Amino acid sequence: MATKFDAIMARRGEIMRRALGMDYGEFELSPIAFDYEAMMADHGYSLDDIVAIQTKAGVGHTPLLELKNFTDLVRSTCEPGRGARIFVKDEAANLAGAFKDRRASVSIHVAKEKGYEGVIAATSGNYGAAVASQAARACLKCIIVQECYDSHKVGQPEIVEKARVCEAYGAEVVQLTVGPELFFHMVELLDQTGYFAASLYSSFGVSGIETLGLEVSQEMRALTGADPTACVITHAGGGNTTGTARGLKRAGATGTKIVAASVDLSGLHMASDNDFNRKSFTTGHTGFGVPFATWPDRADVPRNAARPLRYMDRYLTVTQGEVFYVTEALVKLEGLERGPAGNTAMTAAVSLARELPREATIVVQETEYTGAGKHHWAQLNFARQMGVEVRAGDPRDNQPGTVIVIPERLEQIQASDFDIAHMRRSYVRNAVKAAPAGYVPTTDDIAFLAADTNSTPAAVEAMLAELAAKEA
Ligand SMILES: Cc1ncc(COP(=O)(O)O)c(C=O)c1O
Repeated sequence: MATKFDAIMARRGEIMRRALGMDYGEFELSPIAFDYEAMMADHGYSLDDIVAIQTKAGVGHTPLLELKNFTDLVRSTCEPGRGARIFVKDEAANLAGAFKDRRASVSIHVAKEKGYEGVIAATSGNYGAAVASQAARACLKCIIVQECYDSHKVGQPEIVEKARVCEAYGAEVVQLTVGPELFFHMVELLDQTGYFAASLYSSFGVSGIETLGLEVSQEMRALTGADPTACVITHAGGGNTTGTARGLKRAGATGTKIVAASVDLSGLHMASDNDFNRKSFTTGHTGFGVPFATWPDRADVPRNAARPLRYMDRYLTVTQGEVFYVTEALVKLEGLERGPAGNTAMTAAVSLARELPREATIVVQETEYTGAGKHHWAQLNFARQMGVEVRAGDPRDNQPGTVIVIPERLEQIQASDFDIAHMRRSYVRNAVKAAPAGYVPTTDDIAFLAADTNSTPAAVEAMLAELAAKEA
């Protein structure tokens, strides 16, 4: 196994180049900087082209709903004059039930155009179903590689359900236990099959999400006469935040605040066999949200197109129990029974709406479908089976992996601000660490790091000086 692993990994650059049909080396500028916009534009599609690709693929043009009952409930917990209007983009209306269809549709279009026989994606979540669904429409073969079980072969219900969905679309699903083999197996399969790598993190996928930001701006202008005050975006690997924010900007919505939101799973380790089944959320949580924002290039492509720190104005975290409460509230008040990922941003929106005036508007830019394994009751039952205590009370008593506390009243919901300045410092530290030892960042590197962290060259220089002082 060690020899096979080493042999495949030694050739991974060449295998990935063939599987993506793209040479990332063309965009590299130095050991730190690369030309992000050139990479994003390399596919040659305009935003109109992508809208046309997606329209043909049955993706996008989802309804934007104003949540009047839910807004009224939030307003009943606000100080006078506060309580922004809350809207949601019902992305569950996409073919495979999530915004991930936007991401998959462009990759599948490219794979078909370039004459690949099939596609491969490494994903345990909605993206697998999206790729499988789009591949079925394009008559391409499809393999999905999942991390599904702990070492006792206990599967996370949401991921097990997702495997069945992918198989129903005609995909072959490779299920693995939690561990570092996922990437190796994907590269090995790409080598064996010559299929296209439908990476979550390629410029094809992330460009596909830009249409979501575009639609949010266009629909809010039509409905309210203005772009939204804030757009709240459930954040994990960062494509959702990046693509939506880019789309909003391209639509001219430069004043809309970009608020990322994740479930706080601090203390749980994503690669840990023990922790794998002790979390009730498989995405949209800090276990992916923080490491991917602070080092995007940990992805399965040489340079990740999802670079959320470029766009985030705020990063809010909420607890698992709070999201379960909001999930039930939406069902009862709006007739909207939807899955956990979109409801994570919805929970953060409750807090944000309380801060903003009544005239302000907030768009939660997605819902996701819900189903047998993803449903909040299935997840809570599973949590109990795994020894997690589930009770009602004060959500501040939540302890990821140990106790889920569901609030008793909406007033108890209170998102926390994650320190973005701290994330910027971590990103800069990681970028310097990835360069060869002793490399001194140039003025161009500093300008790149400032753009990649949405800060200024002076701020980056201060971070570099702080790092150097720590090392001295
Ligand atoms: C429905 C849904 N929302 C949000 C996310 C988070 O997206 P990203 O990983 O691009 O940050 C995911 C990703 O798994 C998802 O499936």
